[in-house]
Amino acid sequence: MFSLKGKVAVVTGAASGIGLATAKRFVVAGANVVMADIADATALAKEVGGLFIKTDVTSEGQVKALMDETARKYGRIDIVINNAGGGDGEGPNFIQYLPAKDFESSYRLNAMSVVFGIKHSVDHMVNGGSIVSTASLAGVQGAPTYGPYVASKSAVVGITRTAALELAARNIRVNCVCPGTVDTPMAYTDGGGAELKIAKLMMPLGRLCKAEEVAALFHFLCADDCSFISGQAICIDGGMTAGLSMGLVLPLLENL
Ligand SMILES: NC(=O)c1ccc[n+]([C@@H]2O[C@H](COP(=O)([O-])OP(=O)(O)OC[C@H]3O[C@@H](n4cnc5c(N)ncnc54)[C@H](O)[C@@H]3O)[C@@H](O)[C@H]2O)c1
Repeated sequence: MFSLKGKVAVVTGAASGIGLATAKRFVVAGANVVMADIADATALAKEVGGLFIKTDVTSEGQVKALMDETARKYGRIDIVINNAGGGDGEGPNFIQYLPAKDFESSYRLNAMSVVFGIKHSVDHMVNGGSIVSTASLAGVQGAPTYGPYVASKSAVVGITRTAALELAARNIRVNCVCPGTVDTPMAYTDGGGAELKIAKLMMPLGRLCKAEEVAALFHFLCADDCSFISGQAICIDGGMTAGLSMGLVLPLLENL
């Protein structure tokens, strides 16, 4: 059950956080894992039992080379995890004050990377493959001052749904995951202060998501057991999209 034995998986953003946890989990589940990242993860890949291929996911040529090289080495691709991404640009601000280039660079990093990952892997995929991308809760909800990130992660959801329809005839399933704040280096870019406290308060489960918990969702979505889920944006958010957390509501009630 949920074995990935013999499957060939490409994971981008695999040098850290969610991607690294996913690469580790997939190796344990029996997959041949290609770990792609803009940062050097040669030693890390050796430790994990994967193969590192240096890739900047904003470059179409480099993503094509990643997929071609993986297929040349292993004969095919079964699983693609388009995970590399993050915040980009000058930092949080209202849409009215943000430069257009922040929207463009975020779109390139978070959305075009997914387009490239799908576009250049499908010809190498056997029927029955699985493509899963990392969107975000910011892909299904607004987030004030994070316009470029929200816009680019919302695009990931749309690209996922469209690719799922286009590739259904080949039984290639396409999904994306939408995590709330995950305890990875990315979450500490503001120093781990006020924003993280608010994130914890907003999570009904009262804590941040762990990278390993997102990896477990990727694993579920990529296993053959999960053969009828496609075109979905699956939230992994400790209950955040269910409604307001008690952590937020109780202090408000007490001050009424
Ligand atoms: N941490 C969170 O709170 C959170 C929440 C929702 C979604 N996400 C998404 O999860 C994904 C993984 O982030 P994480 O939390 O593991 O962060 P992380 O910073 O731990 O890891 C991100 C990895 O992506 C790599 N990367 C960045 N730009 C790249 C590029 N151009 N080409 C190739 N690799 C690149 C980095 O080198 C790094 O190894 C991202 O898409 C992020 O937007 C994160």
